[in-house]
Amino acid sequence: MHIMPGLVARKQRLVIGNWKMNGSLAQNASLLDGLRAYPGGACDLAVCVPYPYLAQAAYGLHNTAFGFGAQDVSQHDQGAYTGDVSAAMLADMGCQWVLVGHSERRQHHAETDQQVANKAQAALNAGLTPVVCVGETLAEQSAGHTLGVVARQLAPVLALGADAVNQLVVAYEPVWAIGTGKTATPQQAQDVHAAIRASLDSVGAGQVRILYGGSVNAGNAASLFAMPDIDGALVGGASLQASEFLAIAAA
Ligand code: 13P
Repeated sequence: MHIMPGLVARKQRLVIGNWKMNGSLAQNASLLDGLRAYPGGACDLAVCVPYPYLAQAAYGLHNTAFGFGAQDVSQHDQGAYTGDVSAAMLADMGCQWVLVGHSERRQHHAETDQQVANKAQAALNAGLTPVVCVGETLAEQSAGHTLGVVARQLAPVLALGADAVNQLVVAYEPVWAIGTGKTATPQQAQDVHAAIRASLDSVGAGQVRILYGGSVNAGNAASLFAMPDIDGALVGGASLQASEFLAIAAA
């Protein structure tokens, strides 16, 4: 299909919950119950849960509007990597999605930009959709390095080539906005998203969805989603309450 620039319909919105290292069988059961009540709507929805709860998510979200996935994946296919989980295993469990390069992985596990790109490729090889997370720290933002940092993080991902990049999702999550209650203003986020869009466009992947993440809640979601290059959200804390998460989805 040939799409005229400027006449492109809005991309299907996508809202993903990242539970991080939270939950228990009992807590998840009531959260999943709450999500199951959602009738579905105009946007794609998913939750990324801790590995031990993938089966619970698969069972609890069966025949609902929600997909599910994991929060990390190995860059390796199989073998002697104790503690790691492969993309094929995630696909085997019914996952459609996987986060790669979340700032908490980069920070606490020293994941490099190249490893993140390798993980994205491994996910694609297994038929999963990787959500590649990028974003700058407060110090980097204060020094005016936001766009440079995001470009550096994306470079090895873009090097995977148009076919790969067209199948993934990018999430811009400024580290200073994660779990702090300090959201980027819609215009701040839009400016970075526009730069990300331009770099995706330069490899022929301008239609890739770009999510914003960082203290998204029911109160600020609509103003973020109103921006032309914000195609949805990656939601942390607010995804742990069904009513709050569904209010974001409804926005
Ligand atoms: P919060 O929504 O809790 O700020 O977390 C954002 C995030 O890191 C999602 O991946």
